[in-house]
Amino acid sequence: MKFYITTPIFYPNSSPHIGTAYTTIAADALARYKRLRGYNVYFLTGTDENAQKIVRTAEARGMDPKTYVDGVVDKFKELWEQLEISHDDFIRTTEERHHEVVKEIFTKLYEQGDIYKSEYEGWYCTPCETFWTENKLVDGRCPNQDCGREVELLKEESYFFRLSKYQDALLSHIRSHPEFIQPASRRNEMIRFIESGLEDLCVSRTTFQWGIQVPFNPKHVVYVWLDALINYISALGYPNGDRYNKYWPADIHLMGKDIVRFHAVIWPIILLALGVPLPKVVYGHGWFLSKEGGKISKSRGNVQDSFELIRRYGSDAIRYFLLRELQVGSDGTYSEDSLVERLNSDLANDLGNFISRSLAMIVKYRDGIVPTPSVDTNLELELKVLAREVKTAAEERMDSFDPAGALEQIWRFVARCNKYVDETAPWALAKKEDQQERLNTVLYTFAESIRILAIFCYPFMPGVPNKICSLLGQDSNLIKWEGLECWGVIKPGSIVEKGEPLFPRVDMSQFEGEAEVVEVKNISETVNKEQVSANEPVQVGNVEQISEFEPIKEEITIDDFAKLDLRVVKVLKAEKVEKADKLLKLEVELAGEIRTVVSGIAQYYSPEELVGKSVVLVANLKPAKLRGITSQGMILAASHGEILEVLTVDKDISAGARVK
Ligand code: MSP
Repeated sequence: MKFYITTPIFYPNSSPHIGTAYTTIAADALARYKRLRGYNVYFLTGTDENAQKIVRTAEARGMDPKTYVDGVVDKFKELWEQLEISHDDFIRTTEERHHEVVKEIFTKLYEQGDIYKSEYEGWYCTPCETFWTENKLVDGRCPNQDCGREVELLKEESYFFRLSKYQDALLSHIRSHPEFIQPASRRNEMIRFIESGLEDLCVSRTTFQWGIQVPFNPKHVVYVWLDALINYISALGYPNGDRYNKYWPADIHLMGKDIVRFHAVIWPIILLALGVPLPKVVYGHGWFLSKEGGKISKSRGNVQDSFELIRRYGSDAIRYFLLRELQVGSDGTYSEDSLVERLNSDLANDLGNFISRSLAMIVKYRDGIVPTPSVDTNLELELKVLAREVKTAAEERMDSFDPAGALEQIWRFVARCNKYVDETAPWALAKKEDQQERLNTVLYTFAESIRILAIFCYPFMPGVPNKICSLLGQDSNLIKWEGLECWGVIKPGSIVEKGEPLFPRVDMSQFEGEAEVVEVKNISETVNKEQVSANEPVQVGNVEQISEFEPIKEEITIDDFAKLDLRVVKVLKAEKVEKADKLLKLEVELAGEIRTVVSGIAQYYSPEELVGKSVVLVANLKPAKLRGITSQGMILAASHGEILEVLTVDKDISAGARVK
């Protein structure tokens, strides 16, 4: 019953923003949830301070790197405090406890022949802290789609780490542990990437001194990614510390998708070389993009001052918004407008309103004293059953690292509570002498439902349960996950108060005239943009970039394209193909002709959903046999991550029409 969870360690070259805060908030929600379920949790976060870009930023400000990072690290700590992040440890890679372990590991890998000395000649992108070979550059600049900045030519003596030696062992681990890299789309990406061949990684630098010295050759400092990844065990006191023995291997390393490959390739190979067990899960979530598109990042100048946002909307609302918005496997959009919209709808209207209305009625009709319930009707039974159902569904989502999915489930209960108020109409019961017992049951059910909501909210909005407990006149040890299965916990006779609304509605115009939240002044402002990265995707050593999308294929001519005969066809029938989870057999109409098409879309569409749709068929594709069925063509679909959408024609256009 232990659970070790980590966030990436953040570069303290600029203060944290909403994008970077997401990972930490999501990890916090998972950590809190596991604690509630009785796990012995260790939650680690920290800062990645030995990067070359830190030196550059500090130099540009005329400061020494340590003084500079100390200031930014304080900002991180302050933000985590305001966001009620419940980490157990905060590791800084400038700390001695970390240096010692990195040195020990570097020496061990060198002594066993996994690190060797050679010479690196190639390019380096400092904002991305990444080595590039010449052929990967785009117009001589960093090929990273989110960077594009200038790169520098390096020619220096370097130590190299034999990634290639462990390629097969890593692949076999990934194949035999399907849960190791999640979500599945990232796992597939990683498998393709490793299969294409790993090159040895340059793991030391000689052109600056900031960082961890290679113990047997102090001219070199350890490459920042090798150094940084080790934080996950140095913080536990590897190799012999009690915490290391107790908590390793990590149950989950949580991170943004841009850095999955460091954690799914370099990190496991370091561990394989050391003979240390691998982490159980490496999970890469999507990014927050701005409304205009593009990742939220300091270098794009589209970040907002997190402290000001908290002042305006409160930490719980920001946590809720971020956790609710980022769906598994996809990117999410952040804008202040949509934050306010969710705050007003989900928090003020749905959650807050139910709590205020129902407490106000207990106060109005029973002087704030929780009455003794009488007999339950179907309405109460339904609510109780739903609480259990939602508990199970939320558990499933949280156990698969999906806080957005869990919140979606919990909001089914919130919606049902509001409906219950309308269905029971306590204001009408209050007027009838013979309905007073019924009113008691309804008011008691309110109190219990609010208690249930307090427990559900705890992992996501830790400020809410305490406020609710105090409104309900209860002790906060009421917040127990098992409490979701009980009914009747609140003692009749308890005194509740109406209190202030938990989430008052917000009108953005109330902030007019105040300073813009968009951060105009930031720590790196005075520094040449080329030199300062915000939290951008970073590439692994000499390896090719894996973009989220497949690369654009080789150019073709219009004549090549004209060879394709694409037609609108109408789906007449659809059915599952026996013993093939992924396949549907379709009958489609093409200008009077009926064709059979076997399509690998069964995981995305039920047969009924497809019947009647006008879709696009590659009509001149050579027929192929799939599971014994001859497929006469192929249906077009768009797919990205875990989403797949069949291309349809929405106007009524005859089957047989050409698509060109
Ligand atoms: N220092 C490395 C991590 C080393 S871990 C051994 C690093 N730091 S970072 O500060 O640049 O980024 C940290 C995390 O913030 C990454 O997981 C990244 O994906 C995440 N995010 C940065 N901007 C983000 C968004 N706009 N949206 C969601 N997450 C984002 O990389």
